[in-house]
Amino acid sequence: MSKTATVSAPGKIILTGEHFVVHGAYSLVAAIDKRVTVTIREVRGSSRISSGNVVSAITANDGKFAAVKVVLRKILEKKHEENLEVMISSAFPAGSGLGSSAATCVAVAAAARKFLGLNSDPRSIFELAMEGERQVHGNPSGVDVEASLQGGLLLFNKKTGAKSVPLERSLQMIVAYSGKARNTKQLITKVSMKKRNFPYFFESLSNASSFLTLGVLESITSGDLPRLGAFLNLSQTMLNWLGVSNITLERMIDVAMKEDVFGAKLTGAGGGGSVIILPKPETAESVLKALSKKCAYAFLTSIPQQGLSWEQ
Ligand code: MEV
Repeated sequence: MSKTATVSAPGKIILTGEHFVVHGAYSLVAAIDKRVTVTIREVRGSSRISSGNVVSAITANDGKFAAVKVVLRKILEKKHEENLEVMISSAFPAGSGLGSSAATCVAVAAAARKFLGLNSDPRSIFELAMEGERQVHGNPSGVDVEASLQGGLLLFNKKTGAKSVPLERSLQMIVAYSGKARNTKQLITKVSMKKRNFPYFFESLSNASSFLTLGVLESITSGDLPRLGAFLNLSQTMLNWLGVSNITLERMIDVAMKEDVFGAKLTGAGGGGSVIILPKPETAESVLKALSKKCAYAFLTSIPQQGLSWEQ
């Protein structure tokens, strides 16, 4: 049994199909250049989780690291071990709509299994991470967990799972975080209410969202950026009808549009969180600069192929 284990997993952006994916539609998701790193090591005293200066005992029901505790307790049920510290460090903010909880659950599950000398096949890590995600999201589709696990660009559907899409050319997007953390569970419930109130219209939009996702996929593979941008804008309009956008996100989108971009939309659950922008190559710098002044945090990302990674 190794005495320390370090793994990392990327965050994600959803290009299209968030929320609709929970109800069976297709979604296109991509890993980002920001990762969560988890190290597990032996310590004196009882087992604990730490991130920066927040520390909590694994056995404490204090509301801290709730999803991570679900994952760890599940693993420790099978192979109990005292005296371990799970250290979490993230290169992007929690609650920003960039999949920090999924990346953390994936990295914690993989690191703990490695530390305890258990096998770490991707499916058992997926299942463990989903247990943690259910704790925070209620009814997650699994799209965030797949993105952190596999990396790259994935076409996802709850029935068929994730299919990796080879990228022949690089695609750069700007991610801008509003600074307003969102509550995914509440937003998923809000959308389910919308579905209950407008079942037929919801179903037709959900089908339209799947076609939109396939159109986005085609635009990416053919390198048709103006078409891709137009689809992103349409996707934002659909999310608006669902009630998951808000004035802060729309202002950020407008700031980006003023700088001349192909398209922009919220990403993830909405209600705060982040927007993604498809810049023109010549406007990427100015968009990034304009957004950095207006929001909490903005960066340019590619779509890295590396999903879960075992550090030496
Ligand atoms: C959250 O990143 C994406 C949602 O569609 C929820 C999910 O699919 O689990 C809002």
